[in-house]
Amino acid sequence: MIQALFSYKRDLNLESTIATTMTAVIIDGKKIAEDIKREVKRETEKLNADKGITPGLAFILVGDNPASQAYVRMKGKGCEEMGFYSITERLPAETTQEHLLQLIDKFNRDPNIHGILVQLPLPKHISEEHVLTAIDYRKDVDGFHPINVGKLVIGQECLKPCTPLGVQELLVRSGNDPSGKHVVVVGRSNIVGKPVLNILLQKQKGANAVVTIAHTGAKDTSQYTRQADIVIAAMGRPECITGEMIKPGAVVIDVGINRIDDTTAKNGYRLVGDVHFASAAAVASAITPVPGGVGPMTIAMLLRNTLLAAAGTLYHE
Ligand code: GUN
Repeated sequence: MIQALFSYKRDLNLESTIATTMTAVIIDGKKIAEDIKREVKRETEKLNADKGITPGLAFILVGDNPASQAYVRMKGKGCEEMGFYSITERLPAETTQEHLLQLIDKFNRDPNIHGILVQLPLPKHISEEHVLTAIDYRKDVDGFHPINVGKLVIGQECLKPCTPLGVQELLVRSGNDPSGKHVVVVGRSNIVGKPVLNILLQKQKGANAVVTIAHTGAKDTSQYTRQADIVIAAMGRPECITGEMIKPGAVVIDVGINRIDDTTAKNGYRLVGDVHFASAAAVASAITPVPGGVGPMTIAMLLRNTLLAAAGTLYHE
């Protein structure tokens, strides 16, 4: 973890300028993800030596969304680092749902493939629900299959979504165990908001939190976030959570990755989170940066899920 000093000036009622200086801990997701990857690599070598199993992960990418292409590339690189077998099927945006379902069926039956990941979003003519349900739930390393969603809700062992698992690991490994804390999640997506709620509220180690979800239906989001010991920002809107919305000393986890135009940047854009970093860091006790916070954790947890799926110990039916 890095200690950083932030100077942040706030104009209050245009009358006075208060200079706030505060030391916030930056939670280093890159480092924590590297620690997890080392553990996964060690376990993978053991699985290989003991049982002759090499984890195999199939990626399916439909269309040419640049962000999705970059994510799949990074996930594939992670597989290589772990010594996994991986294959990426890149399909044109016009691919039919039937063709995609046939490909999923092929991977469902392939004994060398233990995990299947269909990168989202899918083109509009393809039903996400249909596609995700077609994946064998024992190979569902994203944790999006309705069987896994149901198991997560009732606290049964299962494959769980990677980004929420990454958030939980970040909290625990940075010394901010959520147990007994009030966690306020902003955003109710199926990928982050809902599963992070279901993970953190379980009566289990590294969880056992009191969890609130705020979303676009809330009249005043800050009314909720100001009560939080831990704020998890996951609504996909750049820099919306500001320092004024955070209780002094709270922990802030920023799940957002947004590209915003920046003419001074070489590629014309820069990445920002859902949190306004400078103002939030001035009041928080700890905060994740973007990039280098939750992002690397998602990949680390995908690799761990693939190892779990390959080991075949999660499901007993
Ligand atoms: N698109 C954005 N996040 C994710 C994710 O975690 N998994 C998949 N499959 N697609 C995504």
